[in-house]
Amino acid sequence: MPSHPLTIAIDGPAGAGKGTLATRLADYYHLPHLDTGLTYRAVAHMLLSKGWPLGDEPHAIAAAKLVDLSSLDRSSLSAHAVGEAASKVAVIPEVRRVLVEKQRAFAAQASGAVLDGRDIGTVVCPDATVKLYVTASAEVRARRRLAEIEANDGAGDFATILADIRRRDERDMGRTDSPLKPASDAHLLDTTEMDIETAFLAAKTLIDKALAEGNRG
Ligand code: C5P
Repeated sequence: MPSHPLTIAIDGPAGAGKGTLATRLADYYHLPHLDTGLTYRAVAHMLLSKGWPLGDEPHAIAAAKLVDLSSLDRSSLSAHAVGEAASKVAVIPEVRRVLVEKQRAFAAQASGAVLDGRDIGTVVCPDATVKLYVTASAEVRARRRLAEIEANDGAGDFATILADIRRRDERDMGRTDSPLKPASDAHLLDTTEMDIETAFLAAKTLIDKALAEGNRG
């Protein structure tokens, strides 16, 4: 057993494959997993369902306080439009502060944890055992998003999805509070030409090495 709980921090832009990778790693290392994007999506979803503007800070902060990590319903939050809306509420510093506190409590479980998002290695879990920054070209990410939509019997247009992805990257990387960027000690994993199995094996090698070093130290 490692002397400290294993905490795995995974960051990266939309569609890079970090969610699938996080699920695989959580399963393999028997760790609870939090997709922190769902917490921002839950806030956006609450505002959208009440018809409140996404820039309505008092309501967004109140919604963030109501987010319950144990009842995040992926099926109602997965829509592309909710992701877009989430990146708008995610620029509000007080919304981030409220959600980061809940995410840190999840990360502090004695069992260890896997968290994925945009600021896990930089802000939420700066002391994570292993930090991964998963990326891929915008074109490949747009193609994957379109395939996902089509697999769920939806229809989409490649050029529109690519433009959305580029806009979301700009918003996530350009915001003042907790912008998306690799932590200085993150391992970069470019999945442009990698399937999920290859990405999983690369991540597993890095994690096993960190665990072996932790046990020696
Ligand atoms: O990962 P997902 O697409 O579900 O995230 C939706 C949006 O939530 C992101 O575009 C980003 O703006 C925001 N987010 C964030 N910090 C996180 C996770 C997500 O700002 N840790």
